[in-house]
Parts: sequence; C-alpha cells; structure tokens
Amino acid sequence: MRTQVAIIGAGPSGLLLGQILSRNGIDNIILERQTGEYVLGRIRAGVLESVTIDGLKRAGVTENLEKHGLIHDGCELVFNDVSYRVDFEKQVGRHVVVYGQTEVTRDLMAAREAIGATTIYEAKDVALHDVDTAKPYVTYTKDGQEHRLDCDYVAGCDGFHGVSRKTIPADILKTYERVYPFGWLGLMADTPPVSDELIYLKHERGFVLCSQRSKTRSRYYLQVPLTDKVEDWSDERFWDELRTRLGPERSANLVTGPSIEKSIAPLRSFVAEPMRYHNLFLAGDAAHIVPPTGAKGLNLAASDVLYLSDALIDFYKNNDTTGIEGYSERCLKRIWGAERFSWYMTNMLHTFPDHDAWDKKMQKAEFMQLLNSENGARLLAENYVGLPY
Ligand code: FAD
Ligand code: DHB
Repeated sequence: MRTQVAIIGAGPSGLLLGQILSRNGIDNIILERQTGEYVLGRIRAGVLESVTIDGLKRAGVTENLEKHGLIHDGCELVFNDVSYRVDFEKQVGRHVVVYGQTEVTRDLMAAREAIGATTIYEAKDVALHDVDTAKPYVTYTKDGQEHRLDCDYVAGCDGFHGVSRKTIPADILKTYERVYPFGWLGLMADTPPVSDELIYLKHERGFVLCSQRSKTRSRYYLQVPLTDKVEDWSDERFWDELRTRLGPERSANLVTGPSIEKSIAPLRSFVAEPMRYHNLFLAGDAAHIVPPTGAKGLNLAASDVLYLSDALIDFYKNNDTTGIEGYSERCLKRIWGAERFSWYMTNMLHTFPDHDAWDKKMQKAEFMQLLNSENGARLLAENYVGLPY
C-alpha cells in the first residue's frame, strides 16, 4: 500500500490533519491502535480556542459546533474564599467555546468517512522505518497479518504513549518534563452545571474545576492524590467532596445525579524538541503535554496541525519546503508559551503536599495580583483565550 502522508493516531490531531490534507488533494491514511468507539469513549477536553475553531473550519466540520458550542466570555477563579471573574471580552475582546473533544472527534470521524478516506483501526505493532531517507514506510499488523505502508512523510499524531517520538534517536531528541504530585478525578453527569461559567477553585483540600458540555451536562474535576483509584470514589463520595470544596453558597446550586463517566488523569508538563526528524513530524500530545489547568492541550494540538498542514500543502502544491524546514521552530514558540501558562495556573490553584508557609503566601500573592492589577488580569485573559498563531 502507498500514500503520500501516513498518519499515526486517530485522536483529534490525526483526524484534523487528515481532513485538511484530504480537502487539499493530499492522499493520507490513518493507522489507529484502538477501535473508533474506544477513542470516542475517552472524555477529555472541553474548551476550544479560536485556533481550534479555525482548524475545524478548514476541515469543513463546524456544523454541530455552531449549533451546540457555548460561547464563554469569562470564567471565575476562586482562591480559598476570594473570587475573581476574568472577563475575556473586556480584557482582550475575545472568547472561548465550550464544546467537547468527544464531539470534535466524532464530527471529524464522520467527515472522514463521508469523503471515503481510509482509517485503519486496531492497527497493532505499528513501527516506523527509514524516516531519515526519501522512502519512509510504516509496518503494522491487522487481524494477525503484517502490512506495509509506503509514504513520503509520516505524521506522528499518536499521543504521549505513542511510537513516533520513540523513533527519533535519543541523541537528537531533547525532552523537558515536570511531573506534579497529584491527578484530576473527572466526573460527567447529565445534570445542569452549577454555574453558567467555568469555575477554577483552590481549596485547602485541593483544586476543583466546574465545567460543562451543555446546559444539561456537567463535567467536574477534583484534585486527588496520585495513589487514589477510580474505585475509591463512589458518586456519593465525589459529590460530598465537591460540596465541601465549593462551600455552602456555591453548592446551594449544585445538582447531583448518577455519573456517566469517571476517570483519573495524572498531571504532567512535557516538551520534546525538535518536532521534526527528517520526514517524520510530531504533532499534539506526541510532542508535548500540558497539565489540564488552562485548557491548552487540544488547542496546542490544533495549532501544530495547522502549521503542519500549511507546510505539507506548500510542498505538494508549490514544491516549497520552507514550512517543512521551519515546522518545529514555529510550533515550539507557541508551545512554550502555553506550557508556561498551564504551569502557572497549576501552581497557583492546586494544593501542593510539600508547600511550606512561604510557598502558600506566594501562591496567594500570585492570585491577588489578578485582583490588584488590570495588567495581571489581561495577561491571564490573553493566555486563556489563546496566544497568537
Ligand atoms: P490523543 O488524543 O492522545 O490521540 C492519540 C491517538 O493515537 C489515540 O487515539 C491513540 O490510541 C493512538 N495511538 C497511540 N499509540 C499508537 C500506536 N502505537 N499506533 C497507533 N495509534 C496509536 N485540552 C484542551 O485544549 N482543553 C481542555 O479543556 C482539556 N482538558 C483535558 C482534560 C483532561 C482530563 C485530559 C486528560 C486532557 C485534557 N486536554 C485538554 C488535553 C487534550 O485532551 C489532549 O491534548 C488531546 O487529546 C491531544 O490530542 P492528540 O490527537 O494529539 O492525542
Ligand atoms: C475542561 C477541562 C479543562 O482542563 C479545562 O481547563 C477546562 C474544561 C473540560 O473537560 O470541560
């Protein structure tokens, strides 16, 4: 089998890239380790920046987003008992859209199916070969049979645990990492959200995020120790803990109900440089991870994909390799900005087990700067709605 671009992974990065390339006449095949249902079952992001919406427009999949996406022009930050509303519209004249990653993925999968582009699900033992030559190829097994896919380029869109990044020789790839001593326990329920806007809240017992997917579907997250398991958290325990951290006034509006999903995600900051090795490109979580505080992961994946699709279109249409050569540098500039913001939000709003009295005072001073300085608030808003791309 042969294609122009072999894409590894059918998460949002791989699907968005595939759709934009196909619409520009560039042939591509996606190899995905899991089934489509499994990919859709992973509940993750909920906040889209304009860069992601631009990407979806270029992929031609905004019909559902326009119908069901919720425009949010602010969010609430709470530090112990002090509350501050960040007004994105007032500060920077922009907003974000609340629309789930599951829905983005479903829309992209449907569009790919409609144009008849190939996705091979349950492709096992994917391995990349000769990516440093003009004739790269990918091997995989499907239903016990080995297959070979020849291509011009490989796009590694296979997430943090994928094979693509590991194909780059260790003496070329430099990685930077920070692991945080806690995770997020997420719960989805078909109940109306506790508030119209998202709430990021720091409590002595740990961080809380009150998010949503619609006017009738809530998504909540609680900071939990890394040693906790989902089985330790009955719905009842989750709602009790959420109520305690929200306090009596906020939880007066809390409507509880049976969970439809519960999962724990560890928090990590990670960047791999460079993001291109000869004819292999990394995009999305394959190259970088942000802790979810700040809602940047999916949005960074979208900006990588926009840069990569521009580069590949320029090469195939105009034989211009400038975009390909500058891909890694272009992406990394935006990535480090989002890494800083996610790290800052995580440090400001979580309860760290090893923090001493000094650290706690600094955390509070960091928060108070938002209330005391328009510049501080504007910087936060500017980062939250998304840095320029
Ligand atoms: P992935 O979604 O990880 O997709 C990679 C795909 O590759 C997967 O389908 C995987 O099965 C496949 N794969 C892996 N290995 C192989 C292999 N060897 N062979 C073939 N296929 C393979 N981001 C935001 O922007 N906003 C938010 O609000 C937000 N909230 C989040 C909340 C949580 C709890 C979590 C965990 C993440 C959140 N994120 C958020 C981050 C966001 O979900 C990710 O950044 C996003 O999924 C990255 O997409 P991706 O396609 O690069 O990687
Ligand atoms: C959601 C997740 C985030 O990490 C975030 O910052 C905002 C919203 C969500 O899943 O809704």
